Amino acid sequence: MDARFQTLRGMHDVLPEDAAFYRLVENTFWEVATRHGFGEIRTPVLEQTELFARSVGEATDIVHKEMYSFRDRSDNEVSLRPEMTASVARAYLEHGLHNQPQPLKLGYIANNYRYERPQAGRYREFEQFGLEVFGSAEPAVDAELILATWQTYESLGLKDLSVQINSLGTEASRQAIRQAITDTLAPVASTLSEDAQRQLRDNPLRILDSKDPQVQAATANIPPLIDHLTDADRDHFTAVLEYLDQVGVAYELNPRLVRGFDYYTRTVFEIWGEAGGQVALGGGGRYDKLVSELGGPDTPAIGMAGGVERIVSLLKEGHGRKPLVQDVQVFLIQLGNEARKLSFELVDRLTRAGLGVASAPGKDSIRSQLKMADRAGAPLALIIGQKEALDGSGIIRDMISGMQETVPLPDVVEHLLKRAPGVVKATKG
Ligand code: HAM
Repeated sequence: MDARFQTLRGMHDVLPEDAAFYRLVENTFWEVATRHGFGEIRTPVLEQTELFARSVGEATDIVHKEMYSFRDRSDNEVSLRPEMTASVARAYLEHGLHNQPQPLKLGYIANNYRYERPQAGRYREFEQFGLEVFGSAEPAVDAELILATWQTYESLGLKDLSVQINSLGTEASRQAIRQAITDTLAPVASTLSEDAQRQLRDNPLRILDSKDPQVQAATANIPPLIDHLTDADRDHFTAVLEYLDQVGVAYELNPRLVRGFDYYTRTVFEIWGEAGGQVALGGGGRYDKLVSELGGPDTPAIGMAGGVERIVSLLKEGHGRKPLVQDVQVFLIQLGNEARKLSFELVDRLTRAGLGVASAPGKDSIRSQLKMADRAGAPLALIIGQKEALDGSGIIRDMISGMQETVPLPDVVEHLLKRAPGVVKATKG
């Protein structure tokens, strides 16, 4: 068939088989997040463009190249959110949440939009789960956020993950870091690509993250960022690492990890999968200046977000847990009008009792309905023929052995529950 409409490039539908994996990720995320005391926040998908320009940063790829921005009918400049941190910080201020006891912990699951070049693990609409903690600069808060992140991935059964961690320091450290990068690259700056030169001018830190081989070679000798940290920044970072050691979170120091947002200060981290970090499964960091830059009081904060599509794709390939789905346990077979009416009532009673039920109301012959019961993989069938409809009984058929038993309809739920295998089973494959 030549379908006339299709999803936009980089966007995708999620059909039931995959949606079960999404739900597994979402439920696992919330189980862990609520244990760590996170409440849920939901924010609008559209915000003022200025919010993202100010927080994510005008010079970042995300704002510079990837935002879905447009003027609405009242001529306001608006954008689909490319991430959630800016929106959550905006909401924190808008609702005076800084007046509540701190630290304040907010979690979310949300779709985000980035006009990236679509490729494996990179979509233009994608889902994130995320955590944000406002109002504390304590290293223990960094460590607990990373621990909650780690527990989420671990609970999903994902293995061979690593936490890549680094510290970008506060502004004083950052100046020294920028200087070291600019000094090291000065002799070769004019030979670099236009993009790299722009980065070096606007946001020298980001150049460490470049995939350009020439830039990578040129930056190979830059001393690790942590060598440039002030004492206070280094103490903060060391304390975070000590807490992580205490609970056995296996982190790797990554002196080149800088992340693609302007709002980060001090701790930054990413979760890398087995693939060797080509695609990060999640990332985050401290953003101690963001709330004040948005016009609020001085409010240190830290957060993270995980990429649901990338995690689902690992789970689907068998690298972690499988979702639980409710199988069809009883196939209802009805013959004739009276039976059809009765069956409808039975759908209500059986499903309320927790049984998975399927039927084929349009079919009349018993043979075709039995065939469908087989195809649905139902272990039991409940047959209501004309005679049974009249005397208020039903025939329970074991679909494997073919054994049948007639039971009075008032007792049918009890009989089925006794015979039905476990209400939920792991999916195959
Ligand atoms: P991010 O690193 O841009 O951070 O995104 C977090 C995760 O979302 C990535 O590690 C990746 O798994 C997933 N992701 C990002 N872009 C795409 C895409 N185009 N397609 C599929 N998955 C994607 C943030 O968004 C920050 N807001 C995290 C944070 C929260 N920092 C502090 N608080």
